[in-house]
Amino acid sequence: MDILVIGIGYVGLVTGTCFAEMGHHVTCLDINTAKIDALNQGHIPIYEPGLEEIVKRNVKAKRLFFTTDYAKAVASSSVSFICVDTPIAADGQANLKFVKEVSAAIGRHMVDEMVIVNKSTVPIGTHLLVSEIVAEELLKRGVKHSFDVVSNPEFLKEGNAVNDFMKPDRVIIGTHCPKAAALMREIYAPFMLSHERLILMDPPSAELTKYASNAMLAVRISFMNELARLCEETGANINQVRKGMGADKRIGYHFLYPGPGFGGSCLPKDIRALQLQAEKYGCSLSVIEAADKANAKQKMRLGEKVETYFATRGGLSERTIGILGLAFKPDTDDMREAPSLTLIAHLLSRGASVRLFDPVAMENAKRLLPDSTAITWCADELEAATSADALVLVTEWKQFRFLAFTEMLSVMKGSAFFDGRNQYHPEEMLAKGFDYMAIGIPHTSATANYLS
Ligand SMILES: NC(=O)c1ccc[n+]([C@@H]2O[C@H](COP(=O)([O-])OP(=O)(O)OC[C@H]3O[C@@H](n4cnc5c(N)ncnc54)[C@H](O)[C@@H]3O)[C@@H](O)[C@H]2O)c1
Repeated sequence: MDILVIGIGYVGLVTGTCFAEMGHHVTCLDINTAKIDALNQGHIPIYEPGLEEIVKRNVKAKRLFFTTDYAKAVASSSVSFICVDTPIAADGQANLKFVKEVSAAIGRHMVDEMVIVNKSTVPIGTHLLVSEIVAEELLKRGVKHSFDVVSNPEFLKEGNAVNDFMKPDRVIIGTHCPKAAALMREIYAPFMLSHERLILMDPPSAELTKYASNAMLAVRISFMNELARLCEETGANINQVRKGMGADKRIGYHFLYPGPGFGGSCLPKDIRALQLQAEKYGCSLSVIEAADKANAKQKMRLGEKVETYFATRGGLSERTIGILGLAFKPDTDDMREAPSLTLIAHLLSRGASVRLFDPVAMENAKRLLPDSTAITWCADELEAATSADALVLVTEWKQFRFLAFTEMLSVMKGSAFFDGRNQYHPEEMLAKGFDYMAIGIPHTSATANYLS
């Protein structure tokens, strides 16, 4: 089948590539000429494990193409997937500017019937907006091509996107049109071989399912972060509490990890957009609002912990803090709303210097951080530790699991280690000579409390 994917970012590139891998003929379109040129020269603009190999294989097999040419791409496809970004607007709502532009462009260039599939995360009712825009463009041209708009929200996780797309937990299809539903079944059939994962529903429910899922995940994380804080105050240990809670099958172990607060391109913007949608309909989503507020507080926590630690040791000013991991989570170069940015801003505002290292997100981080003499960009973990008064682990990259701790401590000025992801065993870190502090594990009684 000839498929057009529009908007070649984290979602679009993975979507197009995975469809091509399953034998479809896929054209990927973006208005960013530099991005399309790079892809046509074999350069993958994002870091996503396993993606580069599949892109190259499918380009070579002539199943995957990259273009900026709307007219040709729309004319030669019978189904278009909209995968453009829906960033947060100044008022907190989802900004639909790009979705609207794509809808208009489709309407301007359609030469036959078309199924238009929206994969971007969009407010309830956007399928109607897309329909209206396309219909308006067709009317302007005086042509009458039939089309359907389907909602097909995406659930892939950056860092595991290829695997998530290839083996989805579910594929949500929102449409009232049996013909469009049948087409979607055909497109996704290769992904359903082991068992049926396609869930058919009406478009508003599909649009809301995406927001509801992200909101639930956000609530779980904020819930655990707040409990972790209580643990720190009371002497309980969040690791033990987490295990005890997760053993209940109704709760489960997933997404019960406290940390530096959630970031990324989806959770923060989606929960804000969902709250505003609810407000518009006179509904209050107080649980989600609380999760959002708790997250804003949690993102300040690591910085406050470092500040509190140094408050009784001469202050944070002129201290050097090494930071391990900048991306909002491992296996991605995405820095959008990363907790590391809040931490770095906090430390710099208190007069500290930072030494930064991330395995893949450094370039994106450089674009977001100020050009400052207080920031040193490091080539590896050891360089980040050099002359540091403290180290902070922000992103739990696998390569940080077994660090050369003895060597790192030997080049540090101080011995404080703030583990923002509870990656290490407190007693082992203490034995290695670190003054080790984690999330939700009381500092003073860490050894006594921790049972791994
Ligand atoms: N990133 C994720 O993990 C993820 C997961 C699930 C859903 N989503 C949702 O999917 C959507 C896309 O997210 P993303 O992270 O891939 O975005 P992104 O910012 O990585 O990529 C969006 C792409 O769309 C392109 N674009 C913008 N306007 C265009 C136009 N008029 N025509 C053609 N291309 C255009 C941009 O140049 C960019 O390359 C968002 O709604 C997001 O919320 C993202």
